[in-house]
Amino acid sequence: MAELRLAVEEHNYRYHVLDKPTVSDAEFDRLFRRLQELEERYPALRTPDSPTQRVGSEPLSTLPNFDHVVPMRSLDSSQEPADVKRFHERIMKALGGDPEFILEPKLDGASLELVYEDGHLVRAVTRGNGVTGEGVTENVRTIPSVPLKLRGTTPPALLSVRGEVMMFLSAFEELNQRLVERGEEPFVNPRNAAAGAIRQLDSRITAERPLHLIAYDVLHAEGVAVETDRQGLKWLAEWGFRVPDRVETASSLDEILDYHRRYEADRDTLDYEIDGVVIKVDDLDAREQLGSTSHHPRGAMAFKFEPRKEITRIDRIVVSVGRTGAMTPVALLRPVEVGGVTVSRATLHNREELARKDVREGDLVRIQRAGDVIPQVLERVPEPGHKRHAAYALPAACPACGTPVVLKGPFTLCPNRFGCPAQLKGRLVHFGSRGALDIEGLGEETAKLLVERELVHDLAGLFHLQAQQLEALPGFAEKSANNLVDAIQARRSTELARFVHGLGIPEVGATVARDLAGHFRTLDAILDATPEALEAVPGIGPKMSEAIRTFLDEPRTRRAIDRVASEMRTLTAPAAVKGGALSGKKIVFTGGLERFSREEAKERAEAEGAKVVSSVSKATDYVVAGSDAGSKLDKATELGVRVLTEEDFLTLLGEA
Ligand code: IVH
Repeated sequence: MAELRLAVEEHNYRYHVLDKPTVSDAEFDRLFRRLQELEERYPALRTPDSPTQRVGSEPLSTLPNFDHVVPMRSLDSSQEPADVKRFHERIMKALGGDPEFILEPKLDGASLELVYEDGHLVRAVTRGNGVTGEGVTENVRTIPSVPLKLRGTTPPALLSVRGEVMMFLSAFEELNQRLVERGEEPFVNPRNAAAGAIRQLDSRITAERPLHLIAYDVLHAEGVAVETDRQGLKWLAEWGFRVPDRVETASSLDEILDYHRRYEADRDTLDYEIDGVVIKVDDLDAREQLGSTSHHPRGAMAFKFEPRKEITRIDRIVVSVGRTGAMTPVALLRPVEVGGVTVSRATLHNREELARKDVREGDLVRIQRAGDVIPQVLERVPEPGHKRHAAYALPAACPACGTPVVLKGPFTLCPNRFGCPAQLKGRLVHFGSRGALDIEGLGEETAKLLVERELVHDLAGLFHLQAQQLEALPGFAEKSANNLVDAIQARRSTELARFVHGLGIPEVGATVARDLAGHFRTLDAILDATPEALEAVPGIGPKMSEAIRTFLDEPRTRRAIDRVASEMRTLTAPAAVKGGALSGKKIVFTGGLERFSREEAKERAEAEGAKVVSSVSKATDYVVAGSDAGSKLDKATELGVRVLTEEDFLTLLGEA
């Protein structure tokens, strides 16, 4: 078994890391199956890092948080050669002489830390906010190019490696095709697909996704002298990691610009996405000496590529109705490859943009795909002598429900908020979400089915669902159907604030909903409040009160609210909380949060009695660090101030 393990792992390495297999797939399968058979027969002899253990295991209920061994910083980046010139000059000046730079591709995947103890993979953590990330070890173990055990003779006692999880383009297209065939949503790009796969709770799903890991940074290696990045890469390769291709060193600006030019020219021949090149001072002591700015190390930067553009023809223009009722004109294109991804739709944003660009059906257009952004139509490519179609006009009625549209600024909206099938799905999900009625089991998929099969026509309809109806839906069985019905019925009594939040009134998030409930005490009082009465609530200004009134004054909307309210047994408004959960605490927010805007986060903290301040000092109680947090996070770590993730913050608010 030990021999088989070695052989399988070796072939696995040659295939996935070196890209140079030395046996046929059939031979590999034979060895693998033989090992599996023996392990089944002698389970006591199965080891945790056996190559058969890459298939995933029992699902987790949540992903645990872990601190990184060394914070994972992000890079300054620019598309402008002038910025690279400045960077180069600054470093020449600071270090004197001709420092050597290491040049690498900037891999466009999901960043990850891998931790090895005595040569064994013990932990894999997503980048998260750079200090703390999510533990995704079980998922990462399923990636064939991740060594479960380091190669070489004496591995360091503790090793922390940074790398990028990638989905190769060919595999990405295949996966998307499979998803579409199964009637599921395809991924927008390989990075999202990789990041999604890594954050699965069920590692067996990750195991089915074609992922690769490319390692580029030794974050920490106990007892190993790593003096330059080059040496680091050499070590990584020796330990059995796949490392970036075509790494070079250079001193002069010209060489750097040339490297960027060459990589950009070859970008479309690669089977994975790179979005630029990374330039780093190779000598790690020198890099240390250069220190860091508020966000990034000074001795490294990313020199990004231009977003990709292509020319193609518009076959048709259609309109898509979003969750908020906004109608977006969408160009259906002759399929075109934009950097390895086939694009057949692109957004034209809204009525005014469409008119400004004067793009019509049949026109030749330039489109752009920039990272994760939905492809956009940039401009029309003139074709002298070409006879054009008439200008496209957005329909006068919503294509999903037939309601006459309403024009609002550049946008065209369907005002049938609760009745329009295109909007109802999202509204149901929001109504059942954690901060609102918290109905377990009412997710995207279910809401979609309820609307498509016409089982629910508005929010009130939820309360009339029968278990038998649900049982007939794909993905439901007797138990899950009963559970959902019970979960819905249990919410006939709900806190007023949650109910108001669940209505999805524009501008009214959980905090404003709580303020409204606390101030007016009953639903009727809120529904009938005059603009002046609304503005008497602290935090509600004229703009917000107008948005609220417009929403509530729409007759269909009002009827839909009355209908659902009549299903509720009680809507309770508890007395306003005094000493909130964060009473007297000083909090600093830094970096991007996922669940809140900065303003909302501030409101929520204040509603719980916290004081939100902008700079970190010893007196700060908590620093809530989101993605790409910078100097404030560094300062907090330096001063020993408690750093919270967004999840921790939610827990403090009593929501996680
Ligand atoms: S070095 C302190 N090298 O790009 C330097 N980063 O903000 C740390 N990335 O999410 C990063 N390829 O994960 C480095 N060859 C490469 C990279 C790379 C991709 C990612 C990194 C981070 C982002 C930079």
